[in-house]
Amino acid sequence: MMSELDYKKRVLIKDVLSGVGFGEEVIVGGWVRSVRRSKTFGFIVLNDGSCQDSLQMVVDESLENYESVIGSLTGTSLLVKGKVVESGGKGQKYELQLSEAQVVGPVDENYPLQKKATSLEFLRENAHLRPRTNLFGAVYRLRHTLSMATHEFFDKEGFYYLNSPILTAVDAEGAGEMFSVSSYSLDDLDAIPRDPENPKSVDFKQDYFGVETSLCVTGQLEGECFAHGLGKVYTFGPTFRAENSNTHRHLSEFWMIEPEAAFMDLDQNADLAVRYVQHLIRAAFEKCPVEMEALDNYHRFSAKQNKESFSSHLERLKQVMNSEFTQITYTEAIEILQKSNQKFEYRPEWGKELQTEHERFLAEKHFEAPVVVTDYPKDCKAFYMKQNDDGKTVRAMDVLVPGVGEIIGGSQREDDLSKLEKRIDELEMDKEPLWWYLDLRRFGSVPHSGFGLGFERAIMYISGMKNIRDVIAFPRTPKNCDF
Ligand code: 4AD
Ligand code: MG
Repeated sequence: MMSELDYKKRVLIKDVLSGVGFGEEVIVGGWVRSVRRSKTFGFIVLNDGSCQDSLQMVVDESLENYESVIGSLTGTSLLVKGKVVESGGKGQKYELQLSEAQVVGPVDENYPLQKKATSLEFLRENAHLRPRTNLFGAVYRLRHTLSMATHEFFDKEGFYYLNSPILTAVDAEGAGEMFSVSSYSLDDLDAIPRDPENPKSVDFKQDYFGVETSLCVTGQLEGECFAHGLGKVYTFGPTFRAENSNTHRHLSEFWMIEPEAAFMDLDQNADLAVRYVQHLIRAAFEKCPVEMEALDNYHRFSAKQNKESFSSHLERLKQVMNSEFTQITYTEAIEILQKSNQKFEYRPEWGKELQTEHERFLAEKHFEAPVVVTDYPKDCKAFYMKQNDDGKTVRAMDVLVPGVGEIIGGSQREDDLSKLEKRIDELEMDKEPLWWYLDLRRFGSVPHSGFGLGFERAIMYISGMKNIRDVIAFPRTPKNCDF
């Protein structure tokens, strides 16, 4: 009878691969990636998710349960003990010579992630298992690194981390794309209280919060309150948008980082945004060099499969890290688009929103680099942006990057009470729920600015992944809330 290996004594594969325990016996555990057997011995490749690389393990037929171990299918979980020795194999410094092995959780032939290349669509359908793939492991370790780098950056810049609420009674972007929240169930429509004077309307006074409530689309307005007290704050949380766009860059639930600072104008805001994006890129190369290489190899491989031309985005990212971003106005952007010979689905026209195709043309083809676009027409942007003297444009800024388009949207905020109230009236918005927001302009108003970086869009840009569903754990999109 073999003794059970103690998983509490387990060490991580990333440590073994950096030489921890060299010459000694260690216990590791993980999931089988592949098995190769020859006559009297075999190799098992094991991954535990602690790093991109897997550990090669040599299994000799003298092992007591050799047949059952070497018969492990891809996906089997194993706990093993072995000596860390120098590896003769290419591309790895250390390997493990097994002395004991234990099949912890077997798999059968129905395990979906077989060794054959699996499509991204297939992995999305198996989102509960994709953390076990090389590709998704790389994306997710990169995501972790970019989260940590975000906190590191804003902390060093003197910003305080604010946890803004997720439940809200205001439509802070004024776009009406909110998910309703109620303690009443849609299953029982008859139970939902009606306004006695207008039976077609819901009587929200009787609902849980006593007002119409939604999931937040931003934490900005609360961020502004805190900027008017703590000076500089940032949020990093989930946001929800019921915009019915099934595109490669829209999620119904996504994460946003929103810094907000008092005594900061639009140019300082743009400068902060550029340095933040550069910091993220730097962190990716410093902390995830192996993941960045693996992602690049993946893109090269899939371009070849699809018979598309390929040029690595790593060099371009490195350039971005060290160069200034071009800054142009919306009006200049429209001129560039109109003068280009590019065929667009939507004709670029002053006063109209920039479409993704326009954003990508500017960043990918025209500048071949990220670009900051400022001073958009007021009708393209939210009510809170600072109005320019021309009466037509606002102090908005978007950061556009190759491959994705907009990753950041921000602005200097209107700090003049009468101008802000006038704009809210123009847009026929309800001022009442915004009383506290208007108070900021009433009591000690200061010039202030901020922006929101769409975290998944930033991960797309840095990882080179083309679909936003592949850079978040469990994507929520129209008609899809699985897992
Ligand atoms: O441009 P947006 O709508 O700006 C705001 O929400 C402001 N309150 C930010 C601020 O000034 N504090 O959104 C900001 C960013 C976009 O640039 C985009 O990267 C991302 O959020 N974003 C989305 N990402 C994924 N799916 C969606 N549906 C997104 N909508 C916006
Ligand atoms: Mg925007």
